[in-house]
Amino acid sequence: MSRVILVLNGPNLNTLGQREPDIYGRTSLEDIKGLTTARAKTHGLEADFRQSNEEGELVSWIQGARTLSPGGAAGIVINAAAYTHTSVAILDALLSCGLPVIEVHLSNIYKREEFRHHSFVSKAATGVICGFGAQGYELAVDAMANLLKAKTA
Ligand code: DQA
Repeated sequence: MSRVILVLNGPNLNTLGQREPDIYGRTSLEDIKGLTTARAKTHGLEADFRQSNEEGELVSWIQGARTLSPGGAAGIVINAAAYTHTSVAILDALLSCGLPVIEVHLSNIYKREEFRHHSFVSKAATGVICGFGAQGYELAVDAMANLLKAKTA
């Protein structure tokens, strides 16, 4: 089985660190990439960590997950950011990718504005981690490692 986890980040997450730090914290996306990659390594996994401000690019990456070089991705961790609440296209891509999906958010979306309480991504996700800031990515990697272990056991 592939040892690669695709970790996808949606719009505005490239500005983490400067963007509304009271909500999202002061950790940059580059630092989160470092944390995620390191945590993946402890499980013998590799994190392919990406960010895009474009919905279509995220859809294309999800579509390509199974055929990712060399052996395809084993699972997807996704923080779709604002597209979480709007994108049927991302939901459809996740539903048809045939891989385990874990949804992550830095903030607790259920504590915030009502429009953030609905997630299209959740309908395709095994589970959701939100409200733990950057640490949520490490928790998501741990959860994915457990899912993959259970799959091969
Ligand atoms: C977010 C929550 C979303 O509502 C928001 O649009 C984001 C970030 C989070 O990580 O807390 O951009 O996904």
